[in-house]
Amino acid sequence: MSPVPKVRLTGGLEVCRVLNGMWQVSGAHGEVDRAKAVEAMQSYVDAGLTTFDMADIYGPAEEIFGHFNSQVKSSGNDVPALQSLTKYVPRPEPMNRKVVEKALRRSMTRMQVDSLDCVQFHWWDYKDKRYLDALGHLSDLQQEGLIRELALTNFDTQRLEEITSRGIRISSNQVQYSLIDQRPAAKMEKFCLANNIQLLTYGTLAGGLLSERYLGKTEPTSRAELYTASLSKYKNMINSWGGWSLFQDLLVALETAARRHDCSVASVATRYVLDRPAVGGVIVGCRLGVAGAGQHISDSLRSCSPDLKLTVEDLAVITAVTQRSRDLSALIGDCGDEYRS
Ligand SMILES: NC(=O)c1ccc[n+]([C@@H]2O[C@H](COP(=O)([O-])OP(=O)(O)OC[C@H]3O[C@@H](n4cnc5c(N)ncnc54)[C@H](OP(=O)(O)O)[C@@H]3O)[C@@H](O)[C@H]2O)c1
Repeated sequence: MSPVPKVRLTGGLEVCRVLNGMWQVSGAHGEVDRAKAVEAMQSYVDAGLTTFDMADIYGPAEEIFGHFNSQVKSSGNDVPALQSLTKYVPRPEPMNRKVVEKALRRSMTRMQVDSLDCVQFHWWDYKDKRYLDALGHLSDLQQEGLIRELALTNFDTQRLEEITSRGIRISSNQVQYSLIDQRPAAKMEKFCLANNIQLLTYGTLAGGLLSERYLGKTEPTSRAELYTASLSKYKNMINSWGGWSLFQDLLVALETAARRHDCSVASVATRYVLDRPAVGGVIVGCRLGVAGAGQHISDSLRSCSPDLKLTVEDLAVITAVTQRSRDLSALIGDCGDEYRS
């Protein structure tokens, strides 16, 4: 088995180009059996997919990682290193040093780590400039060794520029990026490339909609059909993008490319985003410990394998569809604007 390709962030942390997403254990994607979730993590690690993405607001995600991490540490086996990226998503309140440090230490306790590999900071309201206070303290805590990589999630290009111009070193920005939502290509990508900031992407598989499973299927609309928070979130995005009929055309184009490479639609959709400039990694959601949920390890490995190279013909059939879509930048705005009204 060839090793999973990695990308090095500015602070030196190497993360897999396909990361395992843990929003799926928050409870909004099916009932989670914690013990089974911990057990399921082993197969990802065994396959070389050693990087996990979580958040302080994803229910038990940090604790599930912590249980797994402590098991790994106490096993004494020669196990590969894990990389654990979390998020700090504070509610609006004074962002003093005590508040920020307390939140980080809570994540450390839950994750059973002595320092944090990467903290991705989210802020809900740009009019409330206390995000700059929080980032100042996060930067100090990084200098003191509590955090290795200081990163953002869902920040737009204007604020990313504002933050970095204050001398705060940002390793990555986690944003929605897929064949459907290509907003990062408008401005974000260029700024990140110029400033050595990696994009880590989510929504790349649209919660699973970007797969054979939905090819030729009638439009899912009910809650029963859109049975995870991801499916419902990204189905709304498809509605804004161009609707179900255009989406079916996209799946046909992806299947054509997938057949050419003897891989899955999901692998083509992931590879497309991995090949975008400034994209360091794609986060693929894993419904760890949810009864009946599939594991998609081999597809993820194929997606990031250097053997999978999309051709000019593949890109032509895909673009012929995506260029018929609405412009989501004009409709929604820059990265993360969907979280801010
Ligand atoms: N920063 C943010 O605001 C933010 C927002 C959303 C997500 N995220 C991060 O991104 C991660 C990904 O979440 P997401 O909501 O964007 O979901 P996603 O990765 O687009 O979709 C995940 C779902 O896709 C399906 N899937 C995965 N691989 C597949 C394959 N090869 N073939 C067919 N189906 C496949 C699985 O469905 P089944 O389980 O049904 O098989 C899985 O549950 C999260 O866990 C989180 O870490 C961050």
